[in-house]
Amino acid sequence: MNQGARRRTGVWLVGARGSVATTAIVGALAFRAGLADDVGLVGQLPDVAAAGLPDVADLVFGGHDIGTRSLVERAEALAAGRVLPAHLVPLLRDDLAEAERALRHGLDPAGDEPQADGIARIADDLLAFAKEHGLARVVVVDLSSTEPPVDPARLDDPAGPLVDPSALEAALAEGGSPLPASSAYALAAYRAGSAFVSFTPSAGPRLPVLQRVAAEAGVPWAGSDGKTGETLVKSVLAPMFAARALRVRSWASYNMLGGGDGATLADPVVAASKTASKTRALEAILGHQVDAPMHIDYVADHGEWKTAFDHVAFEGFLGARMSLQFTWTGCDSALAAPLVLDLARLTARAHEAGCVGPLGALAFFFKDPAGTDEHGLCAQWEALVSFCRDLGEER
Ligand SMILES: NC(=O)c1ccc[n+]([C@@H]2O[C@H](COP(=O)([O-])OP(=O)(O)OC[C@H]3O[C@@H](n4cnc5c(N)ncnc54)[C@H](O)[C@@H]3O)[C@@H](O)[C@H]2O)c1
Repeated sequence: MNQGARRRTGVWLVGARGSVATTAIVGALAFRAGLADDVGLVGQLPDVAAAGLPDVADLVFGGHDIGTRSLVERAEALAAGRVLPAHLVPLLRDDLAEAERALRHGLDPAGDEPQADGIARIADDLLAFAKEHGLARVVVVDLSSTEPPVDPARLDDPAGPLVDPSALEAALAEGGSPLPASSAYALAAYRAGSAFVSFTPSAGPRLPVLQRVAAEAGVPWAGSDGKTGETLVKSVLAPMFAARALRVRSWASYNMLGGGDGATLADPVVAASKTASKTRALEAILGHQVDAPMHIDYVADHGEWKTAFDHVAFEGFLGARMSLQFTWTGCDSALAAPLVLDLARLTARAHEAGCVGPLGALAFFFKDPAGTDEHGLCAQWEALVSFCRDLGEER
């Protein structure tokens, strides 16, 4: 394989017509065309680029969605909402139309397609995409709407289809739909020999059965739930309290967000996945239980912007009571999209280097990292840099 073909990397986005996916595709196309600089792209920092990542220009996009609005329409809506610069979309119209041609209909949990057929169809789509574009490898990134959490009782059954691969195969062969859609996509990715990144809090690759299948397939995976806003700030501040031996008594968070993600999280059952993922970091960093109420409200008027108010009550020497309050307002997709490109490039490089299973070194990018218990951002950064140095040295 020549050098160019070795680097050509497929990025297959599940939820490809969503805000984050559309922003990631537009951003990569704009960067490739010299219409955007590298602000927000961690993979362009020398310590991370040292891994020998595929270039942004080497990325080829495809994906699944169950929505039907075209990428150009989605990009125009994001430009109207001031997420994307208005002048970009007309300049990239042809490139977006080409990416549109690589999009396929996804797995619809409300549809009547047997899950086994859907998984086979998705795996075929991935193999055809790799063949058509002469790709060295494909990384599948889940950017679809957050799903409700899986019933924990189903995870406690060692002979059940969420734990045991042969029970899963049997359930699929009987025509059942044992997996949430996010995990069905992960299974299809592994069957096609692709690595998987879960940017959402959905179960996806985290189910025990999927972890076993990934190990058997010899592919790496990373997750879960991109760390882009309030939890990012938390994962910097919480280690400060711990290192100064200050006792955090409570950490209350109130989040408002609009957009498609906000609308999905307006359902309290679905929001439970997100609040669980957002609260896990705090106690792990502080090393003790903390009263940490967390609330998420959908405010349609905020569009793609999210605002978090946090109130941290803490105790110092001799019991002195103090507090810290912060407000964070972020553009959801502008924060998330560059991380999607970073994760695709890093996971592709890890796959090329022969890594298998959860990529704990990518914890830096996630609220609920798999493969490590480290939640503090500085320690995660050091682990990432060390991983990239090792990848660079083995080339
Ligand atoms: N924006 C951020 O900062 C951020 C941070 C962490 C995680 N996330 C997660 O990223 C995901 C995407 O966020 P968004 O703002 O782009 O949401 P969005 O609502 O704009 O997009 C979601 C897309 O997924 C599609 N979809 C739904 N079910 C699907 C299925 N079964 N198969 C294929 N496609 C399906 C929808 O049609 C839609 O196009 C969400 O799960 C969100 O929680 C976002």
